[in-house]
Amino acid sequence: MTKPSVTRAVFPVAGLGTRFLPATKAVPKEIMTLIDRPLVQYAIDEARAAGIEEFIFVTARGKGALEDYFDEAPALAAALRRQSKHELLAGLKRTEMASGAIAYVRQREPLGLGHAVWCARHLIGDEPFAVILPDDVIAAETPCLKQMVKAHAEIGGNLVAAMEVPRAQVSSHGILDAGGVRGDVIRVRGMVEKPLPDAAPSTLAVIGRYILTPEVLGRLGGQAAGAGDEIQLTDAIAAEIGGTGVHGFRFEGRRYDCGSKAGYLQATVAFALARDDMKDEFADFLNSIMEFRVAAE
Ligand code: G1P
Repeated sequence: MTKPSVTRAVFPVAGLGTRFLPATKAVPKEIMTLIDRPLVQYAIDEARAAGIEEFIFVTARGKGALEDYFDEAPALAAALRRQSKHELLAGLKRTEMASGAIAYVRQREPLGLGHAVWCARHLIGDEPFAVILPDDVIAAETPCLKQMVKAHAEIGGNLVAAMEVPRAQVSSHGILDAGGVRGDVIRVRGMVEKPLPDAAPSTLAVIGRYILTPEVLGRLGGQAAGAGDEIQLTDAIAAEIGGTGVHGFRFEGRRYDCGSKAGYLQATVAFALARDDMKDEFADFLNSIMEFRVAAE
């Protein structure tokens, strides 16, 4: 039997972004840029490449800039047209969403990632859906979610992106208790949200890309708060291990944690060095400050 394809994605963007205060007092974290594209644009581009057609944002108070970002901007477009700035115009087109392709639901209180996803339940319906956390930016030849959709078409159930992290970092992640591994796919026999390093079943961490069954939404409905006193997505997925099944997926690509200052800076440097219009000048600059640092030591 062919598995239903994944055409809907949820983008939980209701977080307060406290790690980037004071900037995030006025600017949603997801609008912060890597060079000139907001984090959320990377997430949208990845979803589109994977065949996603409906984009569901779980937002909160203060996130209005995100809605404006996806709208048409007629005055701006007309000005660029007059000035024959065709490349900028094309870039602007990529930000627009067809009417009805994008929907926003509000998470009224910050009760956790699981609760945020649950807020989108009426828009998701009864098919598998993707979840993308825009904080996790993944640079890859084949976009990460596209890799996962392909794997999911074969194994079905619930699929979570996974990668090894240093043991000192396990308490920032959902961690997998891995059974057998076949190629890129890991059989999951347990999952725990943000364990202490000593208690972690492995160092295999969940990264912000998921393909989930509607059963997970059902679980979230009645679920008690977990780690950090929040309703955790990890717990609802773990509850499906004996049900619709859970696998980890080792994606090809490099993940940047843009929810942290260090990860955000690393992504900025890596993306600048990958851009034809910037790389030479930027590499010269980096070399010169490194020489300066060595000379100073
Ligand atoms: C969330 C999830 C966690 C996952 C992480 C990936 O945590 O709860 O399981 O490992 O995203 O980035 P957060 O970063 O929102 O605290």
